[in-house]
Amino acid sequence: MTEQTATLSAPEAAPGANSRKVFIKTYGCQMNVYDSTRMSDALARDGYVQTEEIADADLVLLNTCHIREKAAEKVYSELGRLRDMKKERHSDGREFMIGVAGCVAQAEGEEILRRAPAVDVVIGPQTYHRLPDALKRARRGDRVVETDYAIEDKFEHLPKMEKAKIRSRGVTSFLTVQEGCDKFCTFCVVPYTRGSEVSRPLAQIVDEALRLVDAGVREITLLGQNVNAWRAAGPDGREWSLGDLLYRLADIPGLERLRYTTSHPRDMDDRLIEAHADLRKLMPYLHLPIQSGSDRILKAMNRRHTADDYLRLIERIRAARPDIALSGDFITGFPGETDEDFECTMNVVREVKYAGAFSFKYSSRPGTPGADMKGHIDEDVKAERLERLQALLVSQQAEFNASCVGKTVSLLLEKPGRFDGQLIGRSPWLQSVIVDAKGVEIGDIISVRITGTGPNSLYADMVPGV
Ligand code: 5AD
Ligand code: SF4
Repeated sequence: MTEQTATLSAPEAAPGANSRKVFIKTYGCQMNVYDSTRMSDALARDGYVQTEEIADADLVLLNTCHIREKAAEKVYSELGRLRDMKKERHSDGREFMIGVAGCVAQAEGEEILRRAPAVDVVIGPQTYHRLPDALKRARRGDRVVETDYAIEDKFEHLPKMEKAKIRSRGVTSFLTVQEGCDKFCTFCVVPYTRGSEVSRPLAQIVDEALRLVDAGVREITLLGQNVNAWRAAGPDGREWSLGDLLYRLADIPGLERLRYTTSHPRDMDDRLIEAHADLRKLMPYLHLPIQSGSDRILKAMNRRHTADDYLRLIERIRAARPDIALSGDFITGFPGETDEDFECTMNVVREVKYAGAFSFKYSSRPGTPGADMKGHIDEDVKAERLERLQALLVSQQAEFNASCVGKTVSLLLEKPGRFDGQLIGRSPWLQSVIVDAKGVEIGDIISVRITGTGPNSLYADMVPGV
């Protein structure tokens, strides 16, 4: 999953005179972005309105990421700032509560209360439907930790999404279909923080997708830590896989684009590849992490595939959908990684030619098998390898973008551009494209001709009459 830090834009709810305000800061992957919207909805039932101004907030909620040490440590520095803010607010006689949600909450639980005495509520990703109740208890003076794996299905206990809120969030939406991971890559905390793989039932997903589309959403990205491990009972009595789910969702009128992330190479089954060949609505873009190109390191990472397995899989996917663009995740400096191992990673990248990628220095995470392995690599070696890898990936991305110039592509218009008359949309390959748009509006899918490339976006002209 791609990493980002974002504040969730405030929905257009009219704040009542006595309504409380919540400021949500989201760290980490898209699954956290989705969870933040659901937590916001759960709080709205209790009269909370979302604000983008921390200064207005009565409740600050940090939705945290534990994947690398840096991400987790950021939370504690933020909590230090919030502690000072809380003191000020209390001296003015105002309520100011602090909640920690997400994967740091799940992993560290009570430890957060110990290290950060200003925190009122710690709530894990499986229990956030209980957030309003936890806040009530905190208001009575308890410090609350809710990190058990709830027996009940949190999605059944969350309020259904409201049309106005969905609309205020835009024409694209995330939809979590699967959570957790059973793969146990030896560097990764996810199997411990998010638990084992659980799939949401088909009917629940279809219901949510219909609700989104009814409110004007035109593109849905299905999310899961291991999204292509999604399995559920189908109406035909068979066990359905992600490919089957995509076929079902592609039947929804008004839903124009589908994506999914993040996938594991071992779960890319034939049905999913077939879906890429058949479904016009399934966008030709696939995020398929390999992490390392060395078989020795892949084995130590417990990825349970070789570099060649991955390359052959990509060949099959490209045969099914020749215009597919690929992205991946990479780690440099896993314990024991030699210069030769790293060269294997560079070779895989040269062979695949990625349109985009995320790459990281290995971060040793307590409790994972990697942390106890021999041969930890110096930070400067990890950094130097990362720099070389990123230079290659950036040049590949630039090449891919340049290859689009002159092409006519479809664009889903998502938001206004910086200048009057400009709109920004996404290409099928997830590129951000700026267009001078006339007679069209956000939510439209239009044809454009790519005219040039910039540092973060492409430029395009509308193709008249299409
Ligand atoms: N160190 C560095 N990167 C990591 N990732 C997961 N765990 C670690 C770690 N301990 C990366 C992987 C994964 C992405 C979400 O984060 O590349 O695919
Ligand atoms: Fe982590 Fe590996 Fe599971 Fe991805 S597949 S979430 S990297 S354990």
